[in-house]
Amino acid sequence: MAESTPRPAAAAPVRRSSFNNWISASGAVLAVGALFSFALLVWMDFTQGDKNPYLGILTYIVAPLFLSAGLVTVFAGAWLQRRYALQHAAAQPDRWQLDFGNPRQRRYLTIFGVGAAVFLMLSAFGSYQTYHYSESTQFCGQVCHSAMNAEFVTYQRGAHARVDCVACHIGSGAEYFIKAKVNGTHQLIAYLANNYNRPIATPVKNLRPAQDTCEKCHWPGKFHGNLDLTFDHYLSDKKNTPYSVRLLMRVNSGTPGGPPGGIHWHVNPDRKVEYYPADEKRQDIPWMRVTNTKDGTAQVFRTAEFKGEPPANLIRVMDCMDCHNRPAHSFPTANESVERALTSGALSPKLPNLKRVAVQAMLQPEITDDASAPQKIADFLRAKYPGAPELAATIAAVQQLYATSIFPERKADWRVYPNNLGHKDWPGCFRCHDEKHQSALGQSVRASDCNSCHTIIAQGVGAALGELSSRGLEFRHPAGDLDPDLSCADCHNGGVQGK
Ligand code: HEC
Ligand code: HEC
Ligand code: HEC
Ligand code: HEC
Ligand code: HEC
Ligand code: HEC
Repeated sequence: MAESTPRPAAAAPVRRSSFNNWISASGAVLAVGALFSFALLVWMDFTQGDKNPYLGILTYIVAPLFLSAGLVTVFAGAWLQRRYALQHAAAQPDRWQLDFGNPRQRRYLTIFGVGAAVFLMLSAFGSYQTYHYSESTQFCGQVCHSAMNAEFVTYQRGAHARVDCVACHIGSGAEYFIKAKVNGTHQLIAYLANNYNRPIATPVKNLRPAQDTCEKCHWPGKFHGNLDLTFDHYLSDKKNTPYSVRLLMRVNSGTPGGPPGGIHWHVNPDRKVEYYPADEKRQDIPWMRVTNTKDGTAQVFRTAEFKGEPPANLIRVMDCMDCHNRPAHSFPTANESVERALTSGALSPKLPNLKRVAVQAMLQPEITDDASAPQKIADFLRAKYPGAPELAATIAAVQQLYATSIFPERKADWRVYPNNLGHKDWPGCFRCHDEKHQSALGQSVRASDCNSCHTIIAQGVGAALGELSSRGLEFRHPAGDLDPDLSCADCHNGGVQGK
């Protein structure tokens, strides 16, 4: 192009667009980049983002923010340009104007064009990477570190440590995808504002029914047979006396394909078990109904105190998570943590009263924050066992137990997260199986029969554990006869028993 040709703008004051300036051009690139990322994210969202709530934040908050910033810049450039034009004589050369006729400007424009192309590519690549990142277990468990650390730590030692958080928490399908998206955004904002519940409330209300999550990998028809479980304990006496009980759990008592029975009877396809929890944590259950799905007949069991009908919207159909409610985040009690460490050898039973002392060290009321816990545990144990050769190892082991099961700042531990599988430390099965729920015919849900769910095949210590009883033994409670009016969890609360 001829440089000598006078530029039309300079020659005749034809008013050029106010948008014709470098600031607006940069804003436009930003806006196009954001629009491009937005389109890509929406596409990913609908094709593969099936289970990622945080992608929503990126797609519907971050990308539009950049888009708006770009548009604002475009208009700000135009406004500045107009102001400049009004203040200066129209004939004056305009430094801000884009001019393809000017070779210097052309060079700048080439650099600008290449820069814009690179920016567009980077923003697409960046949003794609961020998308994958936000879907990872690492993001869920570690970025929201202080909020979800307790769940992450407990998750890692569970049977589901290789199952993604999203497999249980979101599952697949459009409806929950949207719900999770709204919720995920809400959670992230709450986290950033440091405004979330401590402890995080549970059960998670929008957790999907087990058919959509657990049953993708496990299913009720799967025959589990009987399971042989051993529970190792130590008494809170001077000698830390061991006491074990070995149970045969009747998970399914029938043969494969035979009539459903045993513990997994609750989720067999021929029955629907529903219940009404009177409290948020589903620990107090005054009413339940068993429906025969084949003939439609139903039987209601209720406690004597509960009159009337439960609110229909609060009736819950029992599924896997009503028993296995802590499949990934099991918070062991202080009592249980210490017993496991004694069994594994991490703690030495040679130290007198160690079972009790270690539990006490973990439950000091003075511990109120994460940072000072190790020091307070060390001081407590040093005062109890001055000069003991096992002291250093004991301190390290108890500190480790504490760090992986009690989270004071999150206010997360077994006391707020009951485990419903069993009945010793939490009400669990005995929420319903307690002889207090009666049908109209006066039948009750079985409880006093200790052999209906399991048989004790061995108990005690040493040689006694080698003699197996096929018929089942009567439970020999280490602290003496059991009072039939008391539930195990009335005494066993995970802390120190039998002072
Ligand atoms: C095997 C399924 C499963 C997996 C995998 C899983 N969760 Fe959970 N999670 C649950 C269930 C079930 C609950 C509800 C517990 C209850 O109702 O008592 C829950 C509860 C929670 C809670 C609420 C607080 C609490 O402890 O009850 C948080 C937070 C949480 N999970 C985070 C995570 C994170 C982060 C991951 C991945 C690192 C993850 N979950 C992986 C099943 C799972
Ligand atoms: C993505 C697949 C997957 C999903 C979803 C899943 N699980 Fe599992 N689960 C597994 C695998 C694999 C194992 C076996 C781990 C092993 O053998 O150590 C397992 C083991 C278990 C066990 C026995 C081991 C134990 O000690 O806990 C239970 C009970 C269980 N799952 C319940 C659940 C429940 C309840 C849910 C839904 C909240 C669920 N699972 C969701 C894959 C899954
Ligand atoms: C009434 C309570 C209850 C319900 C409901 C229930 N389970 Fe179980 N389940 C148990 C008990 C009790 C055991 C025995 C294991 C134990 O005590 O730790 C068990 C055992 C299992 C095991 C075998 C664990 C192993 O170590 O091999 C799996 C897997 C399992 N359940 C999955 C499920 C799934 C999936 C569902 C839902 C379809 C479900 N359970 C529903 C109580 C229940
Ligand atoms: C929400 C209430 C509820 C909870 C919680 C519950 N059950 Fe049940 N269970 C029932 C009802 C109702 C029946 C049927 C009683 C009847 O028909 O006589 C039943 C029946 C049973 C049966 C007999 C099944 C058969 O073979 O006929 C077993 C075994 C059993 N439950 C074990 C357990 C175990 C183990 C737990 C805890 C892990 C548990 N239940 C938790 C309500 C519950
Ligand atoms: C409704 C079913 C059910 C009934 C009835 C029942 N149990 Fe259990 N029991 C369980 C389950 C399930 C577990 C396993 C808990 C686990 O896996 O952690 C268990 C565990 C135990 C344990 C081992 C706990 C531990 O930590 O050492 C003992 C001991 C025990 N039961 C005794 C009894 C006695 C005694 C009775 C009668 C008063 C009884 N059970 C009635 C379901 C039942
Ligand atoms: C009246 C209160 C009380 C009741 C009810 C009770 N226990 Fe105990 N239990 C104790 C005491 C006290 C000890 C001794 C604790 C110690 O030495 O650490 C104990 C010890 C135990 C132990 C071995 C040590 C330990 O800490 O685990 C087991 C297992 C046990 N009980 C199971 C049960 C079961 C199962 C039930 C319900 C069927 C039950 N208990 C009901 C008070 C009770």
